[in-house]
Order: sequence, then structure tokens, then C-alpha cells
Amino acid sequence: MQSVLITGGSGLLALNWACCMRNSWEPVLALHSRKVKLEGVRSAFVDLESPATLKKQLAVIRPDLVVHTAGLTSVDLCEQQPAAAMHANAELARNVAQATGSLSIKLIHISTDHLFAGNKAFNTETDAPAPLNVYARTKLQAEQSVQQENPAALLVRTNFFGWGHRYRQSFSDWIIYSLRSGKPVTMFDNVYFTPVLADVLAMSAHYLAENDERGIINLVGDERISKYDFALRLARVFGLPSELIQRGKLSRSSLLAKRPLDMSLDNTQARKQLGRDVGSLDSFFLTLQQQESEGRRNELLTAVME
Ligand SMILES: NC(=O)c1ccc[n+]([C@@H]2O[C@H](COP(=O)([O-])OP(=O)(O)OC[C@H]3O[C@@H](n4cnc5c(N)ncnc54)[C@H](OP(=O)(O)O)[C@@H]3O)[C@@H](O)[C@H]2O)c1
Repeated sequence: MQSVLITGGSGLLALNWACCMRNSWEPVLALHSRKVKLEGVRSAFVDLESPATLKKQLAVIRPDLVVHTAGLTSVDLCEQQPAAAMHANAELARNVAQATGSLSIKLIHISTDHLFAGNKAFNTETDAPAPLNVYARTKLQAEQSVQQENPAALLVRTNFFGWGHRYRQSFSDWIIYSLRSGKPVTMFDNVYFTPVLADVLAMSAHYLAENDERGIINLVGDERISKYDFALRLARVFGLPSELIQRGKLSRSSLLAKRPLDMSLDNTQARKQLGRDVGSLDSFFLTLQQQESEGRRNELLTAVME
């Protein structure tokens, strides 16, 4: 069986990626500070700080593919700690790209939909980024370094959801857990995105990497939706009280970090390369529901330890 090493191993995306792939690939979660216990998934502390050390560890683990998800993902924390953000998001990405490039290991680098000014729907891969905050600037710098150090890398711009763990709630977790406990939530009706289920993202990215696709690709769902409508649609599928979902507006002036209002990405290129649609929101929600009934939610809740 081929193996895939996933950095950011205690993170939201990495855990779902490993669960999704564990029957067809051998996933290895590369850890930083937190430990993970997940059936059928190996994990190892991996030092991303120096390409030389990383190369030595990769020579031992010998993955066929590396997926780089590690980073500082809190937009507000990045704004408060720009040097730490540049280090975690851009410098570590460069190190991973350099090490995988020199060993000719295929790399999937996880980027973001957050790179644009947010005044236009459906940005394409060739639209010029215009980052509004530190997080976006560091992720853009990461893309540039990765392309320089490992031109064969696949760089995935995305926005995903899936089941989280006790230290990290996803957007869908926040809505589901709030509504299940009777708490109202306020959702922005002026912020748009094109979310994809983490498992669909993982499977699609593997397919593209196995077909030797490289460069930047938008891997997002087929539907552009506001955060408010996302919550309503999710509540409907999960049978949750939608009257607890209140309409709100993102007002840029009240935030520490400026945020784009429209983060939607055009996935035409991905659909062409995959030879199919990426997926509708209802199909993602039904899979999320099925994952819960099959035990994914419970398994991930307790998978990460300090
Ligand atoms: N969540 C989204 O909707 C979203 C949207 C667009 C793009 N993305 C991108 O997707 C990727 C994964 O996001 P996520 O939400 O799954 O992340 P997450 O849950 O916040 O997890 C981040 C991971 O990075 C690790 N990490 C942090 N600092 C590190 C460092 N200095 N060295 C090594 N590892 C470090 C953390 O390890 P410890 O816990 O051990 O510190 C953790 O495993 C990120 O690149 C993010 O920019 C996310």
C-alpha cells in the first residue's frame, strides 16, 4: 500500500484526510505539539523547522506523497503575531517543499480561498490575489515559495468543513453543536464561500496528484453560498431548529483582521481535471450525517491529546 504523510497531523483537515484514506493508503500523521490516537493511522513527531532534518525523517518514513496542512490558521492570531504567522505558514511550507522537491516526493500543499480582496465572486486560479490580512499574506508567500522549491507540487486553494475534535471545532461543528444545545447563532448573510467536505477534498486532491496535476487549483464545492444560508441548509438536513439561526452582517470595522466578504472560488478547472462535479452542499451534508452515524464524530472528538 502507498503511504501518505500528512503534516499538521492534529488538525481538522489532517484527521479527516487520514480517516478518509486509511482503507486505500497508509496514512502517517506528522505531529507538532499534540499527540493523536486514531485506529489504523500511524503518527510521528516530525520536525518541519529545517529542510535537512526533515529530509532525514522523510528518508526513514519514505512516504509516496506528502500533504502539507500545518500552519497557524486563526486569522486574528496571525494578525496579532505576524512573525509567528509568517514562520508557521510560509517558512515551514518552504521547508516542506524544499525537502520533498529534493527527494522527488509528490507534494500537495494546502492553500486557502482567503487570498483575494473579496469584492468579486468566483475567483479563478489566474486572478491576481489581493490579500487583506496577515494570514492571507503569509499563505500567499507560502504558495510562491512552494512553487519555487517544488515545481511539481499541487497547490490546493480551498475552504472545507468536517467533524472536528475537542480542541478544534469546524464551522459545521459550531452550527450543529449550538443548535443541538438550543443556543442561537448569528450567521453573516453578506459573506460568501464555496465550501467542500474535507473527505471530498482529500479524495479529489489524491486523484489529481496521482494524475500528476501540478500548480494552483481551486478545489472547492460547486455551490457559492452565504454563511447564513449554509447554516440554514445544514440545519434542514440535520433536522435542527433553524429558528435559532439569526441573520447578521460582517462589518469590517469591528474586526481585528480585515476579512474578504466574498471568498468563493471558481472550480471549473478542477471539474475538468476530475472529469466530474466536485459536489453539492446537500451531498456533503448527507455524507457528514452518515459519518456521524458510522462513528467518525465520536472517534475524532477524543483523537487528539495535549
Ligand atoms: N479550516 C478551514 O476552513 C480552512 C480554509 C482554508 C484553508 N485552510 C488551510 O488548511 C490547512 C489546514 O487547516 P486546519 O483547519 O485543518 O488546521 P488546524 O486544525 O488549525 O491545525 C493546524 C495544524 O498545524 C499544526 N501546527 C501549527 N503550528 C505549527 C508549527 N509551527 N509547526 C508544525 N506544525 C504546526 C498544529 O499542530 P499542534 O496542534 O500540535 O500545534 C495542527 O496540527 C491550513 O493550511 C489552512 O491554512 C483551512
